[in-house]
Amino acid sequence: MTARFLTLEILILKCRIFDIEFKNPVFLASGTFEYGLIYRNVTNRAGAICTKGITARPRGGNPPPRIFETACGLINSVGLENPGVDVFCKETLPRMQRLKTRIFVNVAGFTIDEFVEIVGKIGPRVDGFELNVSCPNVDMGGVSFGRDPDVCAEVVARVRAVTKLPLIVKLTANFCDPLVVARRCVEAGADGISLINTLHGMAFDLKKREVLIQGGLSGPAIKPFALYCVHRLKDIDVPIIGVGGIMSGADAYEFLLAGASAVEIGSAILRDPFSPLRIIKELKRYTG
Ligand SMILES: Cc1cc2nc3c(=O)[nH]c(=O)nc-3n(C[C@H](O)[C@H](O)[C@H](O)COP(=O)(O)O)c2cc1C
Repeated sequence: MTARFLTLEILILKCRIFDIEFKNPVFLASGTFEYGLIYRNVTNRAGAICTKGITARPRGGNPPPRIFETACGLINSVGLENPGVDVFCKETLPRMQRLKTRIFVNVAGFTIDEFVEIVGKIGPRVDGFELNVSCPNVDMGGVSFGRDPDVCAEVVARVRAVTKLPLIVKLTANFCDPLVVARRCVEAGADGISLINTLHGMAFDLKKREVLIQGGLSGPAIKPFALYCVHRLKDIDVPIIGVGGIMSGADAYEFLLAGASAVEIGSAILRDPFSPLRIIKELKRYTG
């Protein structure tokens, strides 16, 4: 697989979403590729990168264990470890701006005011925002916001007032109907919906007879459900970005068939950081 061949593959998959041109519809999912600064050759060939969730204040994250492998997937309990919006703007963002891909900042507020604060501080220096109202590993905000259509609509409306950039809302499917939440988000001004975030999951330590980890389940185990959720939103009038268990071009194409305009690759990256390049190449076989 030569670099030139890959470039050609990518050119053919070019697409336009939110009135922005993307090299291809394969994006890097939040939390699985940090800020895209390490494997730059992968970042620069992806359609976009969604950053790790950025909070208003720095966060050390949850105590270990943070990752646990399950049958066909993994449970993570990272707990939104990140440097906070101020350090992100000062140190990380200037480096990210040199990347040759679209940048979406994943915004993780614990209150509605924090969503507004984070988006306001980042301003127009990125291509758009992915509002994370769906993290299952934190006590406040996260899924408790994401399953309440009124709260989600308010988050979108308040953030809409401070930015003209594309606003994608990243939904949960944990104990709620994402279609109901998506409709309200679109009415409130969302430009797109990404789904799904991780599902609730847990594992026990059999010797100690206690909970070993409780967090978000991701990977191939959740793919059929994620696909169902994307398809459920097929009549929603904004672009849908499909996420959940995509490991191959065939998986990605299934999400496009279900109605997604683009996909995000998450857990596959943890197994192989070069997997997005393989997925882009494989996807071409189906769309060419
Ligand atoms: C280690 C890890 C960290 C994650 N961190 C975030 C995050 O900060 N913000 C977010 O919206 N989603 C986060 N996610 C969820 C992924 O972006 C994605 O929605 C989910 O893992 C499902 O896709 P996958 O099955 O391809 O991994 C994280 C997932 C993993 C595995």
